[in-house]
Amino acid sequence: MKVAINGCTLEITEGDIAAQEVDAIVNAANRFLAGGGGVDGAIHRAGGPAIMEDTARRYPEGCPTGSAVIGVAGLLAAKHVIHAVGPVWRGGNENEAELLAGAYRRALELAAQHACRSVAMPALSTGAYGYPIDLASRVAVRAVGDFLVESGTPELVRFVLWGRAAYDAFAAAT
Ligand code: APR
Repeated sequence: MKVAINGCTLEITEGDIAAQEVDAIVNAANRFLAGGGGVDGAIHRAGGPAIMEDTARRYPEGCPTGSAVIGVAGLLAAKHVIHAVGPVWRGGNENEAELLAGAYRRALELAAQHACRSVAMPALSTGAYGYPIDLASRVAVRAVGDFLVESGTPELVRFVLWGRAAYDAFAAAT
């Protein structure tokens, strides 16, 4: 599914984020940039050790929740990996929506600063971090839509969802 926003395309698709052929792939990282399972595991497995060597050297203090940092993409078919740190879901009264939106926004700012024309993003926080997919999808689509309206870049933002339920939630939110 695709929608046009301010001359850009917002796309929703089902698949593996690590296999995307785009300028930047967004990782669902933790604030220590320590690697993990899910999206993080898939990206580091496919991209090789260069990705973590780079973040360990450039960002030894990690990345705050609600923000993102940019690094190399190793063996992936992308120029950059943007490590975005979404919040752990704690019931909804711990600023989760703002932190989640902040992680997406910062990821897109970094993509724009590095002249990325296409970006693939996962459903941050909706796996190990437990954010309900129906709520997270609305925050994600709004954050990305607002950024595209304001900045008119990148040309393509593709949400890459794992499984039909996640796809349906994002399609409903778009
Ligand atoms: N491609 C796209 N989406 C995927 C993939 C994949 N290869 N693998 C999992 N997903 C989906 C999950 O189904 C979930 O909807 O990505 C979403 C985010 O799940 P997680 O990767 O668990 O990310 P998150 O909830 O943000 O938790 C981050 O998990 O792996 C650790 O190091 C990571 O500590 C961090 C935490």
